Amino acid sequence: MAFKRNKITIVGAGFVGATAAHWAAIKELGDICLIDIIEGMPQGKALDLAEAAPVEGYNCEIIGTNNYEDTKDSDIVIITAGLPRKPGMSRDDLLEKNTAIVKAVTEQIAKYSPNAVLIVVSNPLDAMVYVAHKVSGFPTNKVLGMAGVLDAARFRTFIAMELDVSVEDVNAFVLGGHGDSMVPLPRYSTVAGIPLPDLLPPDKIEALVDRTRKGGGEIVSLLKTGSAFFAPSASVIAMAESILKDQKRVFPCAAYCDKEYDVGGYFVGVPVKLGGNGVEQVIEIKLTPEEKEAFDKSVEAVRQLVKKINV
Ligand code: APR
Repeated sequence: MAFKRNKITIVGAGFVGATAAHWAAIKELGDICLIDIIEGMPQGKALDLAEAAPVEGYNCEIIGTNNYEDTKDSDIVIITAGLPRKPGMSRDDLLEKNTAIVKAVTEQIAKYSPNAVLIVVSNPLDAMVYVAHKVSGFPTNKVLGMAGVLDAARFRTFIAMELDVSVEDVNAFVLGGHGDSMVPLPRYSTVAGIPLPDLLPPDKIEALVDRTRKGGGEIVSLLKTGSAFFAPSASVIAMAESILKDQKRVFPCAAYCDKEYDVGGYFVGVPVKLGGNGVEQVIEIKLTPEEKEAFDKSVEAVRQLVKKINV
């Protein structure tokens, strides 16, 4: 029986894209195609990564290209193309430029890989997923965005630092849009199953929540010339892995919600089951009135942003 490896295309071979390729290669998730508008750059990074394979011992084909024909028949396409934030910029400031980029990219991807699952990373995230869905015409289970895994990972990191425990034993949940109005849920965040409110006083939890909300900005202000890339790329590859291996992991992702959580047809951060069919289920949890209010506020921010988009 002939066996074919999965094919992962990563659009945008910048910091997030190239590092995502690195994680995917180490995990041997499949053959990797890196594509960018800059000539030579994706080819150079792909060759460099291929030359690390004998040292690290991974088996996959890694190519770099500027030609969408080479992305043909991808199983997963990760879109990281776009401009990153600079100090003082909000994710929303990127709206106009990244809408044009994500639109152009999605048109090409939809043409060459009509059956792929699209995972968007470009910011402002929730709005860019909307663009990718609208332009591709793909079913809603096949278009999603990476935000919650990263936001939850940041929350987990800060909880582990505060309690001096292993990050492995910390679980955290974050809902809503990937913006300053995101909704970390302390009562669904646990250390080895113990809810966070049993371990920390409210003011300490609030400080960790606040740092999580501003987590992206904290990195931007330190880097000064770009935004975070290690944790974002690791997060998107965890999502890709769950889909490619049909792991059915439950992650917070920007997924299409209509009746779910009364969102009314937008992509926002909710817990979803990720398997071979992409988003296989949006899991609805009961929110307290305060949590619901914060979630609705976050969804409203996404709605307002999407209203400004013309695709
Ligand atoms: N097609 C393909 N690639 C493009 C296009 C396009 N139309 N436009 C820009 N790019 C490429 C750039 O050439 C660059 O190599 O996208 C890449 C983006 O890489 P970086 O500038 O290094 O940005 P990065 O830090 O990777 O962030 C990418 O992810 O987290 C988000 O906010 C972040 O939107 C940003 C995206």
